[in-house]
Amino acid sequence: AGDFTGGRKAPRVVVLGAGIAGLTTAYELAKAGYQCRILEAKPRPGGRNWTVRSGTEERELGGGTQRAEFSAGQYLNAGPARIAQHMVTLDYCRELGVPIEPFANQNGDAYVHLDQVGAPLRHRTVKADAHGYVSELLAKAVDRDALDKELTAEDRERLLAFLGDFGAIGKRADDWAYRGGPRRGYRVPPGAAGVTGEPYGPLPSLSEYLARGTGRYLSFEVDYDQAMMMFQPVGGMDRIVRAFVDRVGERRISYGSVVREIRDRAAGVEVRYTDARGRERVERADFCVAALPPHVLARTAHNLGSAVQSALRTPAPLAVGKLGLEYRRRWWEEDHRIYGGITETDLPLTHVWYPSHGFHSERGVLVGYYHYRQDALDFGKLAPRERIARAVALGERIHGPAHREELASGFAVAWHRIPHIEGGWIEWPENSVAAYDLLNEPAGRVYFAGDWLTHYIGWQAGAIGSARRTVSLLHERSVRA
Ligand code: PHE
Repeated sequence: AGDFTGGRKAPRVVVLGAGIAGLTTAYELAKAGYQCRILEAKPRPGGRNWTVRSGTEERELGGGTQRAEFSAGQYLNAGPARIAQHMVTLDYCRELGVPIEPFANQNGDAYVHLDQVGAPLRHRTVKADAHGYVSELLAKAVDRDALDKELTAEDRERLLAFLGDFGAIGKRADDWAYRGGPRRGYRVPPGAAGVTGEPYGPLPSLSEYLARGTGRYLSFEVDYDQAMMMFQPVGGMDRIVRAFVDRVGERRISYGSVVREIRDRAAGVEVRYTDARGRERVERADFCVAALPPHVLARTAHNLGSAVQSALRTPAPLAVGKLGLEYRRRWWEEDHRIYGGITETDLPLTHVWYPSHGFHSERGVLVGYYHYRQDALDFGKLAPRERIARAVALGERIHGPAHREELASGFAVAWHRIPHIEGGWIEWPENSVAAYDLLNEPAGRVYFAGDWLTHYIGWQAGAIGSARRTVSLLHERSVRA
């Protein structure tokens, strides 16, 4: 099969890491007829594509072992959890037969919770006020002829008409005021007969609104990689991993295999590793694709030279934490009328996610926090049980007692403390183009692959894109040889 017929021997490739980059590499190479073997340090495939379910166990660096006690069917996508429509990840879902469902990345009824304000605000309220006040100010500026250099007489009229709709402001020269309105939402919704509805109040003044600094919560939903519609695999993100592993063949993956040394030789590569039983072994192949995090590769012995070594040391891993909380009751739906989406907060929780599936069922897993950097480091230092207790105490400020009282169990992942991964994703410092470019080319017979070698860091689409490019480079070279 594949491209190696008529007596040509298919090259052997050793792939380091069974994360999404490594799995894509092995999958695509196998299609073309290559002989692949994957060495994976962890006892499971997927890397950061990791779905925590009942019985999932993990021992963190410098910490104890956590065991998930979620009930049947409940899970946390601890790593990737959302896929945008343009992402190549969806093409693999289609090709691999992984069913998908909508992921609610935006919800006007979810909250923006600022500790100084106290009561949570609905996202729609914060947005309505932004549109309203910005429109009011702009209409006034136009009306006072402050923008005559920028606008023709026609533009002026059209802009004022636009702002009337966009901001729901007054539409007369003597009254451009924003006074709130239905877009802000209701405390008591409009209804039958004389029930006109009671709007959320009070409307903050422009000055109060600006002081809250909520603008940053409104930009997310228009980001290229975050705008709705978004998707998730039905049943957990690791359905993608499962499908890849089934196609690649479980027997081609050696788990518990920790790479110790990579040697590039004139006629092939040698990878020395410790297997699951602690035995030293050597894997020989024609090529190697190292699909490991750069900071892990940087402490693996190799003969690829000092330029490669200093390049591998350049990207900086980022601390990231994600907490799954299973509840006995879907109180966010019943009590708050929030069905999926994300609450943003200035509490150290940062993002709180409501599940996008299982609506109206008995239980559900909430993402109790998804945070980065200092917040992730602070929580990561605590024992998992304390992380949960602290997160629940903070969540109570947003949602009230149910956030604590209805809790069944939790599983708190500190990515920077997960062995063999040690970070949520990486950041390239300024002026690291040379290092980036160097690692995007093979070092002899050794290729690198991963989201960290793309302009799509922290996405499976990056890992897949990098793997596909690496496979193309490698294939062009071996069919030429
Ligand atoms: N893809 C991850 C997420 O959606 C991490 C990420 C966040 C990457 C923002 C880029 C930008 O949360």
